[in-house]
Amino acid sequence: MSSKIKKVVFPVAGLGTRFLPATKANPKEMLPIVDKPLIQYAAEEAASAGVEELIFVTSSSKRAIEDHFDKNYELEAELEKKGKDDMLAIVRGVVPSNITCVYVRQPEALGLGHAVLCAKPVVGDEPFAVILADDLIYTGEKCVLGQMISVFNDRNCSILGVEEVPHDETDKYGIVDPEESDGRITHVRNIVEKPAPADARSNLAVVGRYILSPGIFSHLEKIPRGAGGEIQLTDAIERLLQDEQVLAYRFEGKRYDCGSKLGYLKATVEFALLHPELREEFIEYLETGFGQHVGNIRQVIND
Ligand code: G1P
Repeated sequence: MSSKIKKVVFPVAGLGTRFLPATKANPKEMLPIVDKPLIQYAAEEAASAGVEELIFVTSSSKRAIEDHFDKNYELEAELEKKGKDDMLAIVRGVVPSNITCVYVRQPEALGLGHAVLCAKPVVGDEPFAVILADDLIYTGEKCVLGQMISVFNDRNCSILGVEEVPHDETDKYGIVDPEESDGRITHVRNIVEKPAPADARSNLAVVGRYILSPGIFSHLEKIPRGAGGEIQLTDAIERLLQDEQVLAYRFEGKRYDCGSKLGYLKATVEFALLHPELREEFIEYLETGFGQHVGNIRQVIND
């Protein structure tokens, strides 16, 4: 398998029940962290990793995502008329240049594996990446997908982005059964979707970044429904392992689980602390306004 990674699949058809009612009419991927929706962080990561085509696997309630990445003539004309050049640049920069967006519908919510399979006609017979937008990962210079593509270019096989999670949380993730490690790279013996902590072979969890060989599709077509009654990407990777090598890569970066309310809040606070426009005022608020109550927060809430 040797080919450049040119395409990224974003499965965005999920219902987002953990954020209801905010996600009743709005896709969860459109929830903002400070001033940018989650899906835009994911698209920017793909663009900075050098990908050329973004494939969104959507559903009928996710039209806002297509609109977000489309041109908004009315808004642009209005901003132009008012001379708001900085805003205009932000609006026009939503889709990085040289990037094509493609939308595929997932007609039924049958799980992550099924969503990836829906992208097969667009991906074709080449290796590709998958990004789950609710796993937001902050990195220094090189984004996680960029790091993984470097590993792929060297090792030429499927790569899973992993991190260690608390042992009692293995039932939230695809968990790797690791073989020998070489720095950040670990050979994968097996992988299991959401094992109970007592059954988990490690605490090495796949967190929303995959580079997959096109061989994954034939397995996705055949596997029965797995955990939660869904067609699981993890189960297809388990089968792929019988034919091909799969590596786990411990990325450099900090992950925020924005599929959970607490993770979303942590990302919001920490990204605000990094935001050039907000940073100073927000730090001042935390230190002098809110901060004087630290140690006594429960009391403040009760008052
Ligand atoms: C999905 C995958 C799981 C993976 C996780 C990463 O689960 O099925 O293997 O570890 O994403 O966030 P979900 O969070 O959709 O339940």
